[in-house]
Amino acid sequence: MKKAVVGFSDSSALAKKIARQVKAKYSELELKKFPDGETYLRFKDDIKGKEVIFIESLNNPNEKIFNLILASHTAKELGAKKLTLVAPYMCYMRQDKRFNSGEAISSKIIGKLFHNFNKIITVDPHLHRYKSLKQVFSGNPVRLSANELISSYIKKNLKNVLIIGPDAESYQWAEEIAKHVKSHAIVLRKRRFNSRSVKIRLNNNVSLKGKDVVIVDDIISTGHTMIETVKEAKKHKAKNIYCIAVHGLNVENAYLKLKKLGVKKIIATNTIPGKDSLIDVSGLISESLK
Ligand code: R5P
Repeated sequence: MKKAVVGFSDSSALAKKIARQVKAKYSELELKKFPDGETYLRFKDDIKGKEVIFIESLNNPNEKIFNLILASHTAKELGAKKLTLVAPYMCYMRQDKRFNSGEAISSKIIGKLFHNFNKIITVDPHLHRYKSLKQVFSGNPVRLSANELISSYIKKNLKNVLIIGPDAESYQWAEEIAKHVKSHAIVLRKRRFNSRSVKIRLNNNVSLKGKDVVIVDDIISTGHTMIETVKEAKKHKAKNIYCIAVHGLNVENAYLKLKKLGVKKIIATNTIPGKDSLIDVSGLISESLK
């Protein structure tokens, strides 16, 4: 089946790269706003009989989700044979339970809204209470991991580092990366009070004196998780501190705050574009599309 790669908004650079790698035609979706704020959407190329691969990272997600719903319905009507959604960063995965009565379990709703896609591919989704993406998305959702790419980056650029995971949820990144780089992982304890307030603790008897540490996590959003972890690492006398995330959302100047604390370098993958998004996931995604 012929493939057509369709990109929009800030994922278009990654989408073009992936289109080249899978030898498919790239086309941009035409999106405009009517004067009253409604969305106009048009496919510029013929997609009849093809597998249409939408590539869109779902940071700042709300409008993108709506565009994807319009696009997937339209693609079906235009005769596309298969619809694949590549969302390198999958949104709303952290809202995986009703923490307070009356709340939306947003991840489940997103799963239902994306029912038109025959296949969903994402990189390191925030799976915590869900054990599998199948609990959220129908069809055969594919969960890729950037752990090996992150490990290669560390091996190439940093020497003798200790890996730190800020909280219990991060063990799946910290421990695997530590194994790849032949180091150790320390996973800290986190208590979250609200979106901008967390407390992170490292056992008092652990000394990081003179050690270079890499704090790894899936997401840097407001940066508070990293900030508190950096403070703990400094308290325990770490020498050089690096922060690596799969998805650098970098909300509310998170990176700047981390740099002001003395973090040597902040690195993310390019699931979300940015000047610090140095680890390229395009090959990983392309492989899964072949
Ligand atoms: C949550 O457990 C995630 O793994 C991240 O630690 C969290 O989402 C990061 O958010 P923030 O940067 O706002 O602390």
